[in-house]
Amino acid sequence: MADKPILKMDGIIKTFPGVRALKGVSFEVRKGEIHALMGENGAGKSTLIKILTGVYQKNGGTIYFDDNEVDFKTPIEAQQGGISTIYQEVSLIPYLTVTENVLLGREPKAKWGNIDWKKAHEEAKETLKSMGIDIDVKKAVSDYNTAIQQMVSIARAVSMKAKLVIMDEPTSSLDDNEVEVLFRVMRQLQSEGIAIVFVSHRLDEIYQMCDRITVLRDGDFIGTWDIEELNQQKLIAQMIGKSETEVKALSGMKQVNDKSNEDVVIKLEGVRRGKKVQDISFTLHRGEVLGLAGLLGSGRSEVAKVIAGIDGKDEGKLEFNGGEINLSSPKQAIQKGIAICTENRKTEGIVPNMSVRENITLACLPQISKFGFVSRKKQNEIVDLYIKKMGIKTPSPEQKIKNLSGGNQQKVLLARWLALHPTLLILDEPTRGIDVGAKSEIHSLIDQLSKDGLSLLMISSEFDELIQNTDRIIVLRDGVRVGELNGDERTQDNIMSVIANEGDNDEIEGVL
Ligand SMILES: Nc1ncnc2c1ncn2[C@@H]1O[C@H](COP(=O)(O)OP(=O)(O)OP(=O)(O)O)[C@@H](O)[C@H]1O
Ligand SMILES: [Mg+2]
Repeated sequence: MADKPILKMDGIIKTFPGVRALKGVSFEVRKGEIHALMGENGAGKSTLIKILTGVYQKNGGTIYFDDNEVDFKTPIEAQQGGISTIYQEVSLIPYLTVTENVLLGREPKAKWGNIDWKKAHEEAKETLKSMGIDIDVKKAVSDYNTAIQQMVSIARAVSMKAKLVIMDEPTSSLDDNEVEVLFRVMRQLQSEGIAIVFVSHRLDEIYQMCDRITVLRDGDFIGTWDIEELNQQKLIAQMIGKSETEVKALSGMKQVNDKSNEDVVIKLEGVRRGKKVQDISFTLHRGEVLGLAGLLGSGRSEVAKVIAGIDGKDEGKLEFNGGEINLSSPKQAIQKGIAICTENRKTEGIVPNMSVRENITLACLPQISKFGFVSRKKQNEIVDLYIKKMGIKTPSPEQKIKNLSGGNQQKVLLARWLALHPTLLILDEPTRGIDVGAKSEIHSLIDQLSKDGLSLLMISSEFDELIQNTDRIIVLRDGVRVGELNGDERTQDNIMSVIANEGDNDEIEGVL
């Protein structure tokens, strides 16, 4: 029976010091359905998932899985019980091989009880192949990009014969092609009767994949709907607790500004760096928001890293405010007024055990210190300002940042760089994992900042985000600039056709 529940969570309560993360949440998932768990940053989605999967212990409520009451004490117990989780941040053991990660502890044994590696590799390879991924399984997972690592996590779930697979923002680090592969795999799991809980802040994905939607808001259960019952506007309204009319007013389009007459802030001429940056030239003007579009691996982040002094260039010229610069460190770049908010908040951004206050002011400390002493007053002013301005959800500035929800961590990072008052701010995937409400807040912030004269270079895998927020878009493919789109030319179709077009570069620009 297709609509028999495989999972029933009732009245789940979870409190952390100062936070009531779940206030009696109910959640029911049917066999073989793809069920979206929706809510703003900090609504309690990941907490609910972590309680189900034994990462956290609940303070109240009951859980039934596959007709039995369960209370998993550890993630391993949950896995053995038939629930596999693909976490928001990939959770593999990086130095182990793909095979070891897929099979982890269930490797086939040879005669003497040793692991039969030949068989193990074959099994891992087959599982991945069935998902359309053909890779060398003897390599360490750390040798592969996030997308592949994600697939390895899913392969592990498949090989463990899970009855319920939970995916907490699996697509946030995947490009379009990889998302397609993931969706195919999800459909395949579904056809085998496996239920999937899917968390994503990208509404198009929800509507493409899911059968039902459950909405949480501030730790409360708001409701569960069939997908047909809840259009996008209704969904957003439920998530943020506002009326549909108010939601409509939120979704305005940025007015495009031609900034070509303004001073040039940064100019790249024939910049090269390693294999990823082959030949990049462009200018960015004062108060302009310039987008870098391209597929994963097109060199967008690598270009950003050269400008931000993280990577040195091999060849070419970099000019900033009219003078040539040669940066050898991010520190130098920051001193000049170039800041970057990197895409990988977990490894390159946040300091998990530091407080929100410390994380926000980490970069601007020299500016608020005298004789090596930090002015606590100034620090608090800055922290309060940004917590308010960006709507960062935290019980106090002293909360460790690792305890904030993913989206709120991202806002803290952004605040850190804004607090430096840079001339040029590079945003690499600034709204990844950020909910619709916060996303539109960040978008209007970008708009405001550019009006105040800040120049922004924005990288996003979501083309509609680029179109909505930039004045001009440069398209990259394989480390080469292959096109530029101005004003009304900035459409999804045009970006795609510039990326897809293998022809002569000049010709492409001519066409558009
Ligand atoms: N270990 C923890 N200690 C303290 N507070 C926590 C902890 N984990 C989560 N929280 C708090 O619980 C609330 C719910 O967080 P949760 O991570 O479940 O949100 P989420 O819905 O997954 O958000 P996002 O979309 O940003 O991932 C937040 O206010 C968060 O700060
Ligand atoms: Mg989360």
